[in-house]
Amino acid sequence: MKKILILGGTGDAVKLAAKLATIPKIEVISSLAGRTKKPSALVGQVRIGGFGGAEGLANYLQENSIDFLIDVTHPCAGQITINGSIAAKATNIPHLMLVRPQWEKMSGDNWIEVESLEFAATAIPNSINRVFITSGRQQLKPFLQRSQVYPETWYLMRSIDPPDIELPNSEVLLDRGPFSFEQEYQLLQNYRIQAIVSKNSGGDATYAKIIAARELGIPIIMVQRPAMPEGKKVTSIEDAIAWVKLKTSKL
Ligand SMILES: NC(=O)c1ccc[n+]([C@@H]2O[C@H](COP(=O)([O-])OP(=O)(O)OC[C@H]3O[C@@H](n4cnc5c(N)ncnc54)[C@H](OP(=O)(O)O)[C@@H]3O)[C@@H](O)[C@H]2O)c1
Repeated sequence: MKKILILGGTGDAVKLAAKLATIPKIEVISSLAGRTKKPSALVGQVRIGGFGGAEGLANYLQENSIDFLIDVTHPCAGQITINGSIAAKATNIPHLMLVRPQWEKMSGDNWIEVESLEFAATAIPNSINRVFITSGRQQLKPFLQRSQVYPETWYLMRSIDPPDIELPNSEVLLDRGPFSFEQEYQLLQNYRIQAIVSKNSGGDATYAKIIAARELGIPIIMVQRPAMPEGKKVTSIEDAIAWVKLKTSKL
């Protein structure tokens, strides 16, 4: 048996675990940070919680005799990806990063591209009073600070679990993607949204809001991804499976 540790927390990680589990002589362990109360069902073993930095991850890889490490975390989860890269190098374990391609700006898109959520909060034009936050429930502090300066701005916040911070002038929508174009178009119109805050997550599951915003001429404050460490990368589940098959055939 060959053991694969998947660093997960994304829909692609769920799909990859299910596909790898069908390959003979492969044992899959998925690792989750533990942020979501009811994570999507996973095929194979699951472990939950941080490792204790790159060193803790390296120890885990050795203690559990992991043969391959595949990072399928969200492209904006910069720290765990750095830790994965360091731990794989330290233990000499083959390491792959599955990174979905980022969304590219198209004709008709009105994106204000920023480096972080702190910059996103400051980049919302003062004239805008109704903002749709789709960048997650855990980094709302910059918007709380903005709401102290611009209390008239109203926020719609969408996340899987309730946010840690409550924005004063806001509504929370608890929902999990994928979202259709019709859903997103209706939502933007019903709530009279004037700007969207999004991370450049890439992939299809949450792209409908980008198309709906384009159609409605709504600007998007788009948070860029952090830089990725050096190392082997693929952009699809199929290519990740091909990598595993190639690696296992050489053993
Ligand atoms: N950031 C996003 O926008 C976003 C969106 C959707 C899903 N997610 C998922 O949510 C998780 C947390 O995201 P984040 O942005 O907080 O990550 P992060 O900043 O890169 O990681 C912070 C710490 O959380 C722990 N951690 C993160 N992912 C882990 C995993 N898969 N298994 C075990 N421990 C993990 C690690 O703790 P230790 O140092 O103690 O090991 C890591 O140092 C990720 O797994 C990611 O795939 C993130």
